[in-house]
Amino acid sequence: MAKITEVVDMEKQGGVAVIMINNPPVNALSVGVRKGMVDGMKAAGGDDSVKAVVIACGGRTFIAGADITEFGKAPQEPGLDVAFDLIENSAKPVIAAMHGTALGGGLETAMVCHYRVSTPSAKFGQPEVNLGLIPGAGGTQRLPRIVGVQKAIDLCAGGGQIGVEEALKEGLIDEMIEGDLVAGAVAFAKKVIAEGRPLRKIRDRNEKIEAAKGKAEIFAEARKAYGKSKRGFEAPQANIDAVEAAVNQSFEDGIKKERELFMKLMTGSQSAAQRHVFFAERECAKIPDVPADTPQLPVNKVGIIGAGTMGGGIAMNCANVGIPVKIMEVNQQLLDKGLGVCRRNYENTASRGRITMDDVEKRMSLIKGTLTLDDFADVDMVIEAVYENMDLKKEIFAKLDKICKPGAILGSNTSGLNINEIASATSRPESVIGLHFFSPANVMRLLEVVRGEKTAKNVIATSMAFGRRIQKIPALVGVCQGFVGNRMLRQRGRETQKMILEGALPQQIDKVIFDFGFAMGPFAMSDLSGLDIGWKRGESKGETLRDRLCEAGRLGQKTNAGYYDYQPGSRTPIPSPLVEKMIKDYAAEKNIPQRAITDDEILEKSLYPMINEGAQILEEGIAIRPSDIDVIWIYGYNWPIYRGGPMFYADLVGLKKIYDKMLEFQAREGDIWKPSALLEKLAKEGKGFKDFRR
Ligand code: 3HC
Repeated sequence: MAKITEVVDMEKQGGVAVIMINNPPVNALSVGVRKGMVDGMKAAGGDDSVKAVVIACGGRTFIAGADITEFGKAPQEPGLDVAFDLIENSAKPVIAAMHGTALGGGLETAMVCHYRVSTPSAKFGQPEVNLGLIPGAGGTQRLPRIVGVQKAIDLCAGGGQIGVEEALKEGLIDEMIEGDLVAGAVAFAKKVIAEGRPLRKIRDRNEKIEAAKGKAEIFAEARKAYGKSKRGFEAPQANIDAVEAAVNQSFEDGIKKERELFMKLMTGSQSAAQRHVFFAERECAKIPDVPADTPQLPVNKVGIIGAGTMGGGIAMNCANVGIPVKIMEVNQQLLDKGLGVCRRNYENTASRGRITMDDVEKRMSLIKGTLTLDDFADVDMVIEAVYENMDLKKEIFAKLDKICKPGAILGSNTSGLNINEIASATSRPESVIGLHFFSPANVMRLLEVVRGEKTAKNVIATSMAFGRRIQKIPALVGVCQGFVGNRMLRQRGRETQKMILEGALPQQIDKVIFDFGFAMGPFAMSDLSGLDIGWKRGESKGETLRDRLCEAGRLGQKTNAGYYDYQPGSRTPIPSPLVEKMIKDYAAEKNIPQRAITDDEILEKSLYPMINEGAQILEEGIAIRPSDIDVIWIYGYNWPIYRGGPMFYADLVGLKKIYDKMLEFQAREGDIWKPSALLEKLAKEGKGFKDFRR
């Protein structure tokens, strides 16, 4: 093999030049790869003994896209367009040989080749939309010319992938290669030469886009559908615009339109936020003092205590990936109820065609009920998911200590209690860890892994890996009241409660938060989860507004009344004149002056105390890095991805501005608004959380 650049080699195999890219981990189109393709194509073009070219990759995948780390930096020559021109206009056939995931710029590279072959397991997609972008190297113009308009919209605006079967059917690939891919691609290239097959250019093929010409309704419908499913995101709409340009404009004009849209998104805040989240998610897996090669413990059997909503959801997560689970309840009735809910959830998923009834049975067969903790003697990990009561949890952990085998991980799904205290009930605090799932546990992707003072490193490493295995995004945090997510949420709750007593209505606050991009505002959220969580009827004396709502039987959606009214069977909140009156009466009784509160103030008072708390959390070392806090809020609380998480958002707003606002509120309302030392320091130094180093 002759080296062309550090990351690209070329060799001749009987008249076929094989350009081999080796740019781990995912063969991204970094400058060395682009240069290698350019020089390789030039060398092949000038060599009379070369009759065809194969472009292939070493390692785990074909090119998985442009090198995202280069985005936002000064461009380095040669650009991708130079390589693409050489490939597409080559006088010798060029064949892409794909394995793994041919994504983004990878699929675009394949689409400028004249032919495409792949392994049976290869996958293809244009996931740029997930980074707040559109394909920027012809993907929106070439893809509809092969797979048709609707499929191209779905792939570009939806960001999904297709497999080989569909790719063959649509003509995205010409042949599937069993066995050695490069050998198969070379044989295919020889066939192309021998048969004198034409140098096909996708850009010249219009048959699949003809029918959609001038049909604005196709695109209007797509815009509407994606406007709903991807509310607030700019990129899906831009992807649809670009595909529409492919249909209605010349190829050259379509490419111009694509570039224009790509550059607009690339320099905008949404893509910056989404790219931040891409790296934040991966960074979150890295723990400075627990290296990636820390030995892990086996997790082949899991025991769950409590078959309620959380316990059941956690059991489903395990069964989904084939881990057998024993789930314990205090009586048969509760156990049957919990198992029934799991089955119904699975059956609902099957009725939507996402899994088969066979899968339902297979998964349910992995979840076994029990009424005694003694059955947990052989499990590798226990996850306790009973209600939040320290005494009860300690009693359970003391029992587990006696029953479980040495080395078993003892996890608690507490949403805020002290893990060190729970661990103190055992003789093996090194095995105790917090595994905080988010409701509904079978849906929400976040797992807060809570490290106790004595938790062993291999227990942390195993718990993080277990989280990824059950398809969660684990984030490691330290012990404090409410950990990271709930501790910050409490700040927002405090201020939004205050604001309704000062004159804002629940619906006004909810609208501001909804328009910011959350799925719902805090009051609709309270109604969904139930106002009576932690409320005790016997002890309630109408001291708080919540007490009064609960005493009036307004417990939330379950009673068709909470902060809002609900029609029976409907989840749509209807503003309630009665609640408005209750709020006003309460405020009058407490002598709380009423005023008009602007939407801007609502947003600032909802988000800034959370950001300040995030800074405090960083200062205390409870979270490893600001981006971990972003991951927690995105995957645990539906913070809009296109706003990058609270700490990223704070940097966008500017820490100085937030700091000044906090001081203004502090002067008016007291020390509850005192900025944290870290916020103050960064703001005064003109820095952002992105500059935070421990
Ligand atoms: N550029 C730079 N680095 C990348 C990258 C890319 N396109 N894709 C992945 N990486 C890095 C990751 O950050 C990670 O780095 P780390 O080990 O230091 O944390 C490493 O590669 C491995 O990535 P994963 O952990 O995600 O590995 P997986 O095996 O789980 O997944 C993958 C592989 C499916 C390829 C996944 O990495 C992925 O989806 N990558 C992004 C694909 C993408 O969005 N492509 C489009 C890019 S934009 C584009 O092409 C524009 C074009 O139109 C001009």
